[in-house]
Amino acid sequence: MKNLEEKIANADSLESLEKVRVELFGKKGLLAAEFAKLKDIPGPEKKAFAEGLNKRKAALQVHFDERYEHLKAEEIERVLREEAVDVSLYSTLAQKGSLHPVMETMDRIIDYFVALNFSVETGPMVEDDFHNFEALNLPKYHPARDMQDTFYFNDGSLLRTHTSPVQVRTMLETKPPIRMIAPGSVFRRDYDLTHTPMFHQVEGLVVDERGKVSFANLKSILTDFLHTMFGEVDVRFRPSFFPFTEPSAEVDISCIFCEGKGCRVCSHTGWLEVLGCGIVDPNVFKAVGYEDVSGYAFGLGVERFAMLIHQIPDLRSLFEGDIRLLEQFR
Ligand code: DAH
Repeated sequence: MKNLEEKIANADSLESLEKVRVELFGKKGLLAAEFAKLKDIPGPEKKAFAEGLNKRKAALQVHFDERYEHLKAEEIERVLREEAVDVSLYSTLAQKGSLHPVMETMDRIIDYFVALNFSVETGPMVEDDFHNFEALNLPKYHPARDMQDTFYFNDGSLLRTHTSPVQVRTMLETKPPIRMIAPGSVFRRDYDLTHTPMFHQVEGLVVDERGKVSFANLKSILTDFLHTMFGEVDVRFRPSFFPFTEPSAEVDISCIFCEGKGCRVCSHTGWLEVLGCGIVDPNVFKAVGYEDVSGYAFGLGVERFAMLIHQIPDLRSLFEGDIRLLEQFR
């Protein structure tokens, strides 16, 4: 029973202290063995022996408890030290995606017209000659077909060259009045600074009883639309030709880069062409069996809007998926 304090003091971890606890205080431990001797002690000495033993036990318990508290505190310190998280450590931020500038521009255009109660219509990208050309007053061998460098399939179907065929489909499926836009991808055999084989258009069509839809309506809605998209710009309607509209116009805004003074982007004209429009040609209504109606239509290229709004010089860069370009549109 000597040197028991030393045993406790020498325990250098909670595990070894636990072993010491079993050795001293356990059922088969040293103290238990001492207490067992009690029955052989002669009567008169029993009391003193028991008292001495109990004192010893109490004193050892105090030692033990102190050592336990000490080792426990050390253990907590060690865990705190070894498992510490340095909250000031630099880490890269989580990557977050964003809308492609073309889709973001498309959404802005759609939002404008949806707010004016236009419906949003869609149609197939693989079209037939009737919907893409014939019904839009572009008969076979009409020279205006040259303007639309078309991808044909062997069976005569084609990749739609504009979203105007959705006009035709919507008119065939519903009855006037119609107020619709048709956003979507279109395809042409063309590739340079300002042309890619796939790009996006938004087509618009309004049809109502004859006399209810005028060029004045078209002009006012498109002027307000362009002010919403480009801010304080001048808008001019310039006579032009489209087979599906008569009269037709191309719409220019004053150059947003030089404010109309003339620069490289506007080819020193001071104007930027941004869309085509007109009063729906009677032949288009004839093709879908409409009578006694009038209407206007317009069409625009979404990439052109995105390039002007974000000052992107090369259309092709929009489709290369280069993260360095896309990151600028977060
Ligand atoms: N479909 C024409 C194109 O792709 C754009 C267009 C011009 C649509 C005038 C129209 C319009 O509805 O009236 O070039």
